[in-house]
Amino acid sequence: MHSEPARIVLVTGASRGIGAEVARQLAGPDTHVVVNYREKANRADTIAQTIRDAGGHASTLRADISDEAEAVAMMESIGARFGRLDALVLNASGGLELGADPSYAMRLNRDAQRHLAQLAVPLMPIGGRIVFVTSHQAHFFPNKAVPKGYSAIAASKRAGETALYAMRSAFTRAGIGLTVVSGDMIDGTMIVRLLQRRDPAEVSARRAHGSLPTVEEFAEVIVGATVSPTPQSIVYVGGADYLMTA
Ligand SMILES: NC(=O)c1ccc[n+]([C@@H]2O[C@H](COP(=O)([O-])OP(=O)(O)OC[C@H]3O[C@@H](n4cnc5c(N)ncnc54)[C@H](OP(=O)(O)O)[C@@H]3O)[C@@H](O)[C@H]2O)c1
Repeated sequence: MHSEPARIVLVTGASRGIGAEVARQLAGPDTHVVVNYREKANRADTIAQTIRDAGGHASTLRADISDEAEAVAMMESIGARFGRLDALVLNASGGLELGADPSYAMRLNRDAQRHLAQLAVPLMPIGGRIVFVTSHQAHFFPNKAVPKGYSAIAASKRAGETALYAMRSAFTRAGIGLTVVSGDMIDGTMIVRLLQRRDPAEVSARRAHGSLPTVEEFAEVIVGATVSPTPQSIVYVGGADYLMTA
């Protein structure tokens, strides 16, 4: 008889970059990875196929998470198919897109994160995990300098983190752990290539403190937070200089 795997994990924005690597690293016989994407269906399908080829289980779900109705439909579809969600990785992020409406960053990086967490709670068993992925530039905003053009994104991601912290008592009552994973600039990502063009001095300044973490290293910590029996509130990846008070 066909049975669903023991753990169901949703990764938002898993069609590329860090989310795609998180999805790949989650692959295993006991886990069904739900690969959320907004536009890139072919890429999301490829990630899901890679997971199946590695002996895991995966499916894709299209939803622009900043659209409330699409977020609801995605979570309803998970509820209808699996009846549960064991871990939610809040990875999808944006706002740097050319021509993005100025309110989009807050809608995506704060409101959509809070909304997805609210929708996830009733689906999560005791021991459920919510992991919010952010950058040091956002986590420490406005106390540390950010690359040119990144302030609105940093402010919105910081607001998303604060909104999730404000929900912590509800998570605790439901037996759900929240972990924020904050990373320095991650080598080889599109965002760092974009920042390199917009503010090369800031990217060089980050590299001057040591080699930047890789996508694989960052994803490993995010995946670890989805299974940790004792979830930490915050885990930092790279950028030791950011962590010193000055
Ligand atoms: N890159 C870095 O250096 C760095 C450093 C620290 C932390 N982080 C954090 O790591 C996370 C991932 O970063 P990344 O560099 O991998 O990002 P990325 O390459 O820009 O990928 C973003 C992903 O999110 C999806 N997405 C964007 N808007 C969406 C929406 N409205 N609804 C659903 N999905 C949406 C995209 O899907 P489509 O392609 O289908 O549109 C894509 O899969 C972010 O939270 C970021 O802040 C990144």
